[in-house]
Amino acid sequence: MSKKAILEVDGKRYEFPVLIGTENEIAIDIKALRGVTNGITTLDPGFKNTSSCESAITFLDGEKGILRYRGYSIEELADKSDFLEVAYLLIFGELPTEEQKLKFHRDIQKTSLVDEDIKKILDGFPKSAHPMGVLSALTSALTAFNPKSVNVESEEDMYRAICKILGKFPVLVAWAYRKEEGLPLAYGDNSLGYVENFIKMMFELPNEEYKMNPVVVDALDKLLILHADHEQNCSTSTVRVVGSSHAGLFASISAGISALWGPLHGGANQAVIEMLEAIKEDGGDYQKYIAKAKDKNDPFRLMGFGHRVYKNFDPRANIIKVAAEEVLADLGIDDPVLDIARGLAKEALSDEYFKSRNLYPNVDFYSGIIYRALGIPVPMFTAMFALGRLPGWIAQWKEMRLRKEPISRPRQLYIGETLRPFKSFEER
Ligand code: ACO
Repeated sequence: MSKKAILEVDGKRYEFPVLIGTENEIAIDIKALRGVTNGITTLDPGFKNTSSCESAITFLDGEKGILRYRGYSIEELADKSDFLEVAYLLIFGELPTEEQKLKFHRDIQKTSLVDEDIKKILDGFPKSAHPMGVLSALTSALTAFNPKSVNVESEEDMYRAICKILGKFPVLVAWAYRKEEGLPLAYGDNSLGYVENFIKMMFELPNEEYKMNPVVVDALDKLLILHADHEQNCSTSTVRVVGSSHAGLFASISAGISALWGPLHGGANQAVIEMLEAIKEDGGDYQKYIAKAKDKNDPFRLMGFGHRVYKNFDPRANIIKVAAEEVLADLGIDDPVLDIARGLAKEALSDEYFKSRNLYPNVDFYSGIIYRALGIPVPMFTAMFALGRLPGWIAQWKEMRLRKEPISRPRQLYIGETLRPFKSFEER
């Protein structure tokens, strides 16, 4: 028998269907609420209790620390798959056959050149510009160079648009980095894998051959896989919201990049390293910073700790912690910042304040350490996250459009002034 939820307001009872997901998650379907109650809404700032859509892409259970893409565990994908394959899985729903994967890669490569005029736009930015601002602007600019909107009814059109953004975006990320470093812009090498090619585009110098380090490729591949999707987080919701107005794929992704930029979301990886550096500069006394984080009169928060949905542990953090140790060992890096990170994590994990609030190190606590070891400058960290999240944004945008979701338009509870007469200057 199907379940029902009963709502009683002012003595009137309303019945709503209860939906059950494939992992037995329960949601009260309130689509009819305003209609049947004559205007009542629900209030849920930050959407802490709101499922904004039905989705078949990513499952996560914050209490149990589970993350799965299309049913495959993140642990298995990080161990056995690669980023391109995971991108295909997220976007098209199944792991590709060998042939499908080769074709996908070839089709992405075919679209990877960006219009030379994009370089003029890039030229207009000062070197000091934050790469996330540059990336958001350049991704939006791609719309101007590809003005024909995607016909979402056509599988071929969709496929072409998806390949285009997957081909051009890594070029833009690499160029944002090279601009900041004052390096000539490069296009990489199509004989390489997707991630290898990206690494070459980033780090290749004009006067010497680039030597690929498999440990670096593997660590970056893992990092990108771990960041590839995370259901309805802030930037993904932004992509879906913007796309729901039928704005194009590039414009929607550009908005997602802006949402990811903030320190409470993707910007946390940058904030973590800046915090660890500041602790080091301040003498390395991390206990002092634990105390600051606990002090309610101090706005300081321990960056890289806590998560809106993971309340036991972040499974991505467990994988990335091991990868970070491996990379540092392989590259022979003895980083004092890592010792501070280890100390902070150990201390916080046994502290009552953090334990009682379920605050654990999240993926960003460790990802910045790897990026730093790879020689990626701090402001580029969030851009690396964006590269990883791209397949998730695409998959969620595609799902939203194919399910013909309505335009996102929340309601509000108005708490402002009621009607009042206009005041002249003399009366104000
Ligand atoms: N340091 C110290 N205290 C914290 C922290 C932290 N990092 N995070 C949460 N708290 C405390 C809050 O002060 C609050 O305490 P109270 O109940 O005494 O008032 C309690 O824990 C709950 O915090 P909320 O902000 O309500 O939790 P929410 O789920 O809204 O926020 C968030 C989650 C934004 C991630 C938060 O934990 C935070 O700011 N963390 C630091 C930034 C960060 O690492 N962000 C990356 C997230 S992962 C990602 O985007 C990939």
